[in-house]
Amino acid sequence: NLLEGRYMTVEIITAEALARLENCDDPRLKSIMTSVITHLHAVVREVEPTLEEWGQAIDFLTQVGHWCDDTRQEFILLSDTLAVSMLVDALAHRKPDSATESTVQGPFHVSDAPELQFGANISKGRSGEPTLVTGRVLGIDGTPIANAKLDVWQASAEGLYDVQEIERFPDMNLRGIFYTDSEGQFGFCTEKPASYPVPTDGPVGVMLKALGRHAMRPAHIHFMVSAEQHQPLTTHLFVRGDPYLESDAVQAVKDSLIVDFKQLDDPVEAEQFGISSPYFKVNEDFRLASTA
Ligand code: BEZ
Ligand code: FE
Repeated sequence: NLLEGRYMTVEIITAEALARLENCDDPRLKSIMTSVITHLHAVVREVEPTLEEWGQAIDFLTQVGHWCDDTRQEFILLSDTLAVSMLVDALAHRKPDSATESTVQGPFHVSDAPELQFGANISKGRSGEPTLVTGRVLGIDGTPIANAKLDVWQASAEGLYDVQEIERFPDMNLRGIFYTDSEGQFGFCTEKPASYPVPTDGPVGVMLKALGRHAMRPAHIHFMVSAEQHQPLTTHLFVRGDPYLESDAVQAVKDSLIVDFKQLDDPVEAEQFGISSPYFKVNEDFRLASTA
């Protein structure tokens, strides 16, 4: 006890709050809470909020909580839009240089997407620009990985995920699970994704507006790639040339994840995959670090 008969003063409040962690016998928790208290107190000392401003902060966080349910996670969106999610991911995934880089998962993954065959089209009953996505899953030494799982999901050409327009299109649209063949190859057809805004109808939308920030994410396809004896990878492929690559609302763009959607006119290949020509083609390999 630092008080030694004195009561709290601005000078000793922080030291006393830290001293009260003394009996915590979980060293990791103690170290995390030491940082949290130290930095929170530093923010308050720097900002010197009025009681009214502190009340507004509490109200904002309360609203964020009220907006969370089974299908909407406003706290993750808050973490995403303040670039905390990207920082956590970047620090947690310090992979070998040659492994494919990771990026945020976002809120639109579903765990029970349909398993589909090589070449299947994940764009059902829609009219976007036809796109063929091919590539291989490799180890960092370039060895093809057979039977690797790719869980794929994306927004439509109108910038919406199936879960956001469930009344208009069949469920499980623009998502699917694929497995690589014996040469590590995968392939599927889709429509070219478009840039879209993160949800802005909740308190995070109010925050972005107050900060003069836009809510747009550059067009991308999400991938979750996994294989035995390899570290799982959650990432995106971004469409080169998208106007929002440099100002992504969640700061998730990495240079190595920007790929060409090449425009091709190859009626033979298009016919093979059951899409019309001209079409866009992306060919990109994923490299997974091993767990060993
Ligand atoms: C997404 O890419 O699906 C996403 C990521 C972060 C926040 C909102 C959406
Ligand atoms: Fe997305």
